[in-house]
Amino acid sequence: MKASGGREAAKRRAGESAADLVEDGMIVGLGTGSTAAHAIRALGRAVDAGLNVSGIPTSYQSRALAREVGIPLTTLDAARPDIAIDGADQVADGDLIKGGGAAHAREKVVDASADRFVVVADETKRAAALDRPVAVEALPDAVPVVEDRVAAAGGDPALRSAERKDGPVVTDNGNLVLDCEFGAIDDPAGLAASLAGVPGVVAHGLFVGMADEVHVGGDGVSVERY
Ligand code: 5RP
Repeated sequence: MKASGGREAAKRRAGESAADLVEDGMIVGLGTGSTAAHAIRALGRAVDAGLNVSGIPTSYQSRALAREVGIPLTTLDAARPDIAIDGADQVADGDLIKGGGAAHAREKVVDASADRFVVVADETKRAAALDRPVAVEALPDAVPVVEDRVAAAGGDPALRSAERKDGPVVTDNGNLVLDCEFGAIDDPAGLAASLAGVPGVVAHGLFVGMADEVHVGGDGVSVERY
């Protein structure tokens, strides 16, 4: 069933529901993507209304948006997030596939360092099992070797191509991204551990056992706690 107002309205409800958790004085991890952007905009409005918070962005995109809406910024050198609010490409039992925006390396660092990690998603992201391709960020020189290791683990890697630029997507960290098709992932924790152990892999998009809450936007918002 379609959410009233469509998918964008569902994303907005999820983002605003998570932004409501932010209290005065908090440090907030600012996720990447269109759903997290709704949370960032809501926080910007709260800052305008007098809320005192600082944000730690997870990407060039979230940093630019936070600056545009007036959220003061800080870094992990100075503080750790009380809460991180971030989107996902797929959610199953609180485990996530992320990396649709190729920001998963910084997202993982910021989300994992937060006291509370809140995921925001619309209903289309919910699944019984994770089965989307897993984004693997790799050092450019390591790509052929990472491809071999992904194939040995049963995956089918494809170098992510840029749009409106010839050649591959280059991440905010100067690396390349392989989208790795594994079919339905029976053992997300096992696959996450094997990918993390491949030399040259900077970060993969499996976020296993990390989320504390998932705010799922539809006609309203349902909250799953883990
Ligand atoms: C970026 C991400 C995003 O959070 C994910 O792709 C979801 O984006 P959106 O809310 O636009 O669907 O992981 O790397």
